[in-house]
Amino acid sequence: MERMLTSEELAQKAVEAKSKGLPTYSNFHVGAALLAESGKIYLGANIETSSYSLTICAERTAVFQAIINGERKFKSIAIASDAEDFCPPCGACRQVLLDLCGKELEVILVNKKNELKTFLLKELIPHSFSGEFLK
Ligand code: THU
Repeated sequence: MERMLTSEELAQKAVEAKSKGLPTYSNFHVGAALLAESGKIYLGANIETSSYSLTICAERTAVFQAIINGERKFKSIAIASDAEDFCPPCGACRQVLLDLCGKELEVILVNKKNELKTFLLKELIPHSFSGEFLK
């Protein structure tokens, strides 16, 4: 079996993914690297359209890419941007990550100096709505 990546290695993948997006209007580049339990990594980057609300964040492009490739279990996601500070996932992405990756997902934020800050998803979206309510 392949060796699992370190947080620093996954963070580096998120940094590399930043350049793959199309943040045409905000020019704010975000990259994401999602590590599945299979050991595979799925990259994401934000893509914007002229109708701004149709924009999709880096985190969601990574998750959807993983899902259509058959992945259902995930370990960690790293998120990088060009901001000085750590760029946390937006509210919509927190909900999507919760529903598709689970509350134990490790969320690794990477700042401009390549420093890391790690959370569990359940810390970022407490008191959450979930599919449990729909059963
Ligand atoms: N963005 C992300 O890709 N992820 C986040 O969690 C925060 C925001 C993108 C969306 C948009 O393209 C740009 O950043 C500015 O909001």
